[in-house]
Amino acid sequence: MQSDLRKKLMEAFSNAEGSFISGQEIADHIGCSRTAVWKHIEELRNEGYTLEAVRKKGYRIVSAPEKITSNEIQLGLKSKVLGQHIHYEETVDSTQKIAHQLATDGAPEGTIVLAEEQTGGKGRLMRPWHSPKYSGIWMSTILRPQIAIHQAPQLTLLAAVAVVKAVKEVSGLQPHIKWPNDLLLNKKKITGILTEMQAESDQIHSVIIGIGINVNQQTEDFPEDLRDKASSIFIEGQNRISRANLVQAVLYHLEELYFLYLKEGFAPIKEQWEAYAISLGQQIKATTIHSVIVGKALGITDAGVLLLEDEDGKVHSVYSADIEV
Ligand code: BTN
Repeated sequence: MQSDLRKKLMEAFSNAEGSFISGQEIADHIGCSRTAVWKHIEELRNEGYTLEAVRKKGYRIVSAPEKITSNEIQLGLKSKVLGQHIHYEETVDSTQKIAHQLATDGAPEGTIVLAEEQTGGKGRLMRPWHSPKYSGIWMSTILRPQIAIHQAPQLTLLAAVAVVKAVKEVSGLQPHIKWPNDLLLNKKKITGILTEMQAESDQIHSVIIGIGINVNQQTEDFPEDLRDKASSIFIEGQNRISRANLVQAVLYHLEELYFLYLKEGFAPIKEQWEAYAISLGQQIKATTIHSVIVGKALGITDAGVLLLEDEDGKVHSVYSADIEV
């Protein structure tokens, strides 16, 4: 929407002081048709405004989008390294891409990239990640651990534990982890984690942990084909939560676990991951690119590999798969 049009539209709502204003009044104020007003209203909704529309009364703004600002995050940030450098953008293709570029340019450990919206959000296995404006947390964190390349997947599991703790702390809801790193509430996915790496020979330059959390979306904000698999903290808890507070909590727990990991290795992380995992000890179905394995989930190895025991007692190592529980 052109900025002068936007200004007039907001002026019309502001003059109405929270009362309803008819489509015709808005059209007169802006100097456009009723159809154009309807399109502008739709645009506001897409930007995160909640508008009430009542026949014969018109429109009323119920709430403006809740933006996250770097200041808000830094104020009261409990982590010492993570989040000390924040790269914030309104709209990006993918925060992962920006984080890769920043890491190549030498950004310090703990730099985070945060966006209100991603137009090309990336999920695991080259899948798209739906990242609508003002309703979720789309964040990539740059780490520079001195570990061997084969240990890097452990950081994905570590991140899953950190997000479980943060969601619990801020919303009171207890998510569970579905291997390797999906967080579920009432069996629906609310968080995905994508870990990527920049490395050379056996030397890691950076690990980029991309975290996507569905926070305040309503059901209709999800595309129809996702509605039976994905959800948000708001839908499951019927409570809007502050995304800034949740970012702070994620950074705090991520840092705490990361420092523990650097000091004591993967064992204490694995223990916590297993305590939150839903599938362990249960019959599950793993669909890999080569086959489908049905078996009992025994646990994970130190490399984060899932161990599945089939009905003949054979133990399969699953490196990458879709899991149905
Ligand atoms: C998954 O498939 O479960 C992983 C989803 C990871 C999404 C996050 S959102 C922030 C970061 N930027 C991206 O493009 N992807 C990750």
